Amino acid sequence: MDSLLRVEHVTISYNGKPVVQDVSFELKQGEILGIVGESGSGKSTVIKAIMGLLGEEGLVTEGDIWYKGENLTSMSEKKLRGYLGKEIGMVFQDCKAALCPVRTIGAQIHEAVSEHEKISRQETWKRAGEIMKKIGLDDSERVLNSYPFELSGGMNQRVGICTAMIMHPNLLLADEPTSALDVTVQKQVVEELLLMRKEYHTAMILVTHNIGVVKMMADRILVLQNGVVRDYGETDAVLNHSEDPYTKKLMSSVLHLKRD
Ligand SMILES: Nc1ncnc2c1ncn2[C@@H]1O[C@H](COP(=O)(O)OP(=O)(O)OP(=O)(O)O)[C@@H](O)[C@H]1O
Ligand SMILES: [Mg+2]
Repeated sequence: MDSLLRVEHVTISYNGKPVVQDVSFELKQGEILGIVGESGSGKSTVIKAIMGLLGEEGLVTEGDIWYKGENLTSMSEKKLRGYLGKEIGMVFQDCKAALCPVRTIGAQIHEAVSEHEKISRQETWKRAGEIMKKIGLDDSERVLNSYPFELSGGMNQRVGICTAMIMHPNLLLADEPTSALDVTVQKQVVEELLLMRKEYHTAMILVTHNIGVVKMMADRILVLQNGVVRDYGETDAVLNHSEDPYTKKLMSSVLHLKRD
C-alpha cells in the first residue's frame, strides 16, 4: 500500500537556526506513529511543519513532505487550508490557546465544521455532544455554551479532541492529546481514538510523553533528541529491543518513574 504521508529528510529552522534535522518517516492509511523525546526535542515542530503552521520564524529548509503524492511544503496556502480541519485534523498541545477566547465552544466547533460542509447548528451540537459524552464530557450543553476560560485545562483539551474528531479526518495530528487528563479519562480518549481508527481507518501521529499511551496505540515509534532521529521502528522493537543508548535511557526512565 502506498504511503499516505511521507516525510523525507526534512530540516526545519526558526530564524535560520535549524532545530529539526534530516527527519524521515512514513505513515500508511490507518497507521499510528508515536513521536517521543524530551522537551524541546522538536516534536511539535515536526507536527506544525506538516500543517504549514510554523509561523513567521519557522521554515522547512530542506526535504519534502508528501501527502497523498502532493508536496505540502510547496502547496499554496489556500489549498493547504482546504485540507486542514477536514482531511487533516489537529489537536494542539495548548488547546485553550488555539481556541478563540471571546466566542463560545459551540460557536467555534460549528464554524469549524460548517467551513467544510453544509450543516445546521443543531446537527453540529448533536454530533459534538455524542463525541463529548464518549470522552467524559457528560454535560455537553454546558460545555458548548461556555467560553474557553470557563472550562478546565482538561476540558479544553477534550474540546480540542472533539473538534478534530468530529470531521473524521483522514490523518489526525495529535500533540499531547492526553497530557492534562487523569488516568480514567486518558483511557477513554485512547479508546475513542482507536475506535475512530477502526471505523474510519484514520492515520495518526501521536506526540506524547506518556510511553504507556504510545505502547497502547502506536504501530511505530520515532524517537527524537535535539531535533535528530535517534530511533525509528516497530513499537515493540523500539520499546524493548533498541540498541540506541538514548532510546534505552528514555524508556527505562519512564519505567523507573512508573515504579516510584
Ligand atoms: N516559534 C519559535 N521560534 C523560535 N524557536 C522555536 C519556536 N518554536 C519552537 N522553537 C524551538 O524549537 C525547539 C523545538 O521545540 P518544540 O516545541 O518542537 O519541542 P517539543 O519537542 O514539542 O517540546 P515539548 O515536549 O516541551 O512540547 C526548541 O528549542 C524551541 O525553543
Ligand atoms: Mg511540544
